[in-house]
Amino acid sequence: MKSIFLFIAALGILFINACSSSAPEELKREPAKKEELGELLFSDPILSQNNEISCASCHIPSYAFSDTIAFSKGVNGKTGNRNTPSAMNQSSRNFFFHDGRATSLEEQAAGPIENPVEMNLPIAEAIKKLIANKYYQKYFKKIYNESPNRTNLLDAIASFERTLETGDTPFDRFMKDDTNAISESAKRGQKIFNEKGKCFDCHFGPDFTGDQFRNIGLYNAKELKDMGRFDATKDSADIGKFKVPGLRNISVTAPYMHNGMFKTLSEVIDYYNAPSDFVKGSINSDTLLLKPIALSKIEKTDLLEFLETLTDDRFKAIVKH
Ligand code: HEC
Ligand code: HEC
Repeated sequence: MKSIFLFIAALGILFINACSSSAPEELKREPAKKEELGELLFSDPILSQNNEISCASCHIPSYAFSDTIAFSKGVNGKTGNRNTPSAMNQSSRNFFFHDGRATSLEEQAAGPIENPVEMNLPIAEAIKKLIANKYYQKYFKKIYNESPNRTNLLDAIASFERTLETGDTPFDRFMKDDTNAISESAKRGQKIFNEKGKCFDCHFGPDFTGDQFRNIGLYNAKELKDMGRFDATKDSADIGKFKVPGLRNISVTAPYMHNGMFKTLSEVIDYYNAPSDFVKGSINSDTLLLKPIALSKIEKTDLLEFLETLTDDRFKAIVKH
């Protein structure tokens, strides 16, 4: 009898605990470093207005922290008009978002929390929720020696994102003199990428982006209305320019481009091969794209094979080809 009473009392305490302050979802271990705290926050819907959307809802870890649909769903099923980019390999970037309107990962992270179609929560409200949560209160105190605030919240998230670097690819092994790490077809593809295809003129450096803004012809003021970089600078020379995205893990981050208009890498290659077959009346398009590249069927396959060598081994299982 006594033990049943104790059991019911214990259940009661558990229930009260569960109601007063919930532990972060997927709590596997107590975070000891800011990167680990950032990882918890990244996948915790506590940072959204309705407690349903986390950063990881759109930046899905198993898809290289990108989404599988053109426009991700935010709070109450709302959608924006840009495709979710991968949140990996960001530590060397100078600009964030397709139009580069943020210049640090910390500044970037505040955007989605407050964005009405993403997490829709003013940062001040987010901080109140974290302070009211005894777990987060404890972790922030332990790691930052202070309560949750705007600066340490954004610092934790950005610190986690800086750990998301992926260099374990067949291409990286090839560059370290493992000549058999990529196929003969991929080797031919690399040459096309660098020379005939002119891809390397824009996609260069360790992550295949020179961190510039370029116009590849996806703005025509008709069905393609996103003005890209112009939104951030209001400089007419920037109309239709978008941030050159890095190409690491590109096999698992479909669909592609700022609006997710291409479903496969083959479609992307077909587009670059002859842009005007896809978009009529492009405005301000880069001179590099003026002439069709005229790739043969084999050359297209080779280029695709090369692009697929840029995906980290951890995502091998979901590469479709
Ligand atoms: C509802 C979906 C959604 C949620 C939730 C979301 N993001 Fe994003 N994220 C996007 C979209 C869409 C963009 C591109 C927006 C643009 O360019 O205007 C983006 C851009 C980014 C970028 C820039 C990447 C680049 O290549 O420039 C980073 C980093 C990022 N998000 C991190 C986060 C973090 C951190 C959170 C949580 C605090 C978060 N995101 C929540 C959809 C989302
Ligand atoms: C003039 C500069 C330029 C050239 C040349 C260029 N790109 Fe791009 N690339 C870009 C820009 C800018 C974007 C982003 C456009 C957007 O978001 O609408 C992009 C996007 C992409 C994407 C989609 C990335 C994503 O995450 O959505 C792939 C894949 C790609 N390029 C591959 C290539 C290949 C392969 C070539 C050569 C055949 C090439 N690029 C040539 C500038 C260039």
